Amino acid sequence: MGIILDGKKVAEARQKLVKEVIHDSGLRPRLATVIVGCDPASQMYVRMKHRACESVGIGSVGIELPADVTTRTVLEAISRLNRDPATNGILVQLPLPKQIDTEQVIASVRTDKDVDGFHPENLGLLFSGKPRFAPCTPQGIMTLFEEYNIAIPGARAVVLGRSIDVGRPMAALLTNADATVTICHSKTRNLPDETRNANILISAIGKAHFVRADMVKPGAVVIDVGINQLNGKLVGDVAFATVKECASAITPVPGGVGPMTIATLMENTLKAAKLQLCKPV
Ligand SMILES: NC(=O)c1ccc[n+]([C@@H]2O[C@H](COP(=O)([O-])OP(=O)(O)OC[C@H]3O[C@@H](n4cnc5c(N)ncnc54)[C@H](OP(=O)(O)O)[C@@H]3O)[C@@H](O)[C@H]2O)c1
Repeated sequence: MGIILDGKKVAEARQKLVKEVIHDSGLRPRLATVIVGCDPASQMYVRMKHRACESVGIGSVGIELPADVTTRTVLEAISRLNRDPATNGILVQLPLPKQIDTEQVIASVRTDKDVDGFHPENLGLLFSGKPRFAPCTPQGIMTLFEEYNIAIPGARAVVLGRSIDVGRPMAALLTNADATVTICHSKTRNLPDETRNANILISAIGKAHFVRADMVKPGAVVIDVGINQLNGKLVGDVAFATVKECASAITPVPGGVGPMTIATLMENTLKAAKLQLCKPV
C-alpha cells in the first residue's frame, strides 16, 4: 500500500511558516476576494480563504457583487483594488456568471497582485520557466512533492485536464522541474495507455472515481485534484480504495490537494506584499 500524502499536515506547517515570517517582518499583507453571485460552493471556498488569512495574520476583505452585475461593474471593483495601496493580493472567485467576460476580468488584475496566477502575463512567465505567481493548486502540489522528497527530474508525468487553473500550469511546473510531461484531455485517444506510462499521475478532470487501478502503473505517485459529490460524499477523480494499493504514494480527498491550494494562496499573498515593497503601488 502506498503512503498517504497528507496535504492537511503539510499545509498547516507551511501556514505556520507564513505566520512566523509575517510576524517577524512587520509586514501586514492584505488579500481582497471578489465574488459575484451566491453560489454556495464559491461562498464556501471564499470563507475558507478568509479563515486561512486570519489564522496567518493576513488581513482580508471580501467584495460581494450581485449575480446580475455587468462586466464593467466587476472591472471597476478590480480597478479600485488595483489602485489601493493597502491591498496586496486580489483573488476573483471563479466561475463568474455567464454574462461576465471572465478573460477580461482576469486580465484586469494588476500582475503583481495576481495571487491566483491566472493573468496571461503570469501564465506566460510560468511557461517561459520564470514564474512570478504560479496558480495555487499546481504550486501546492509541487510543494507536496518537495516535502515528501518525490523526485521529479526525468520522471514521466501525465496530467489529466488542461484548464488554466490546474492542468496547464501543472504541466508547466513539472516541465520546469525537468519531468517529461504529457497532458491528456477529453479528446485524448486510448487514455489508459497514457496513464499507465506515468511515474507521476495527476488527475484534474472533475469526474468521480474516473481513475481506476488498472489505469495506474504500479509504484506511481498519484495526485487527485478532483472534487466531486458521490452519493452525498466528497470524493476525488481517483478510485482511492483500490488505487492506493498499487500506488507508491497518493493524496486523499479531502485532506490532500485542497489544503495545499489554500496554503499556497497565503504564500502567494505574502510574496505579493514583498514584491510591492520593492515596487510600491
Ligand atoms: N483541490 C483543489 O484545490 C482544486 C482546485 C481547482 C479545481 N479542483 C477540482 O479539480 C477538478 C478539475 O478542475 P478544473 O477547474 O481544472 O476543471 P475544468 O476547467 O472543467 O477542466 C476539466 C478538464 O478535464 C478534461 N476532461 C473532462 N472529461 C475528461 C475525460 N473523460 N477524459 C479526459 N479528460 C477529461 C477536460 O478536457 P477538455 O479540455 O477537452 O474539455 C478539461 O481539460 C474539478 O473537480 C475541480 O473541482 C480542485
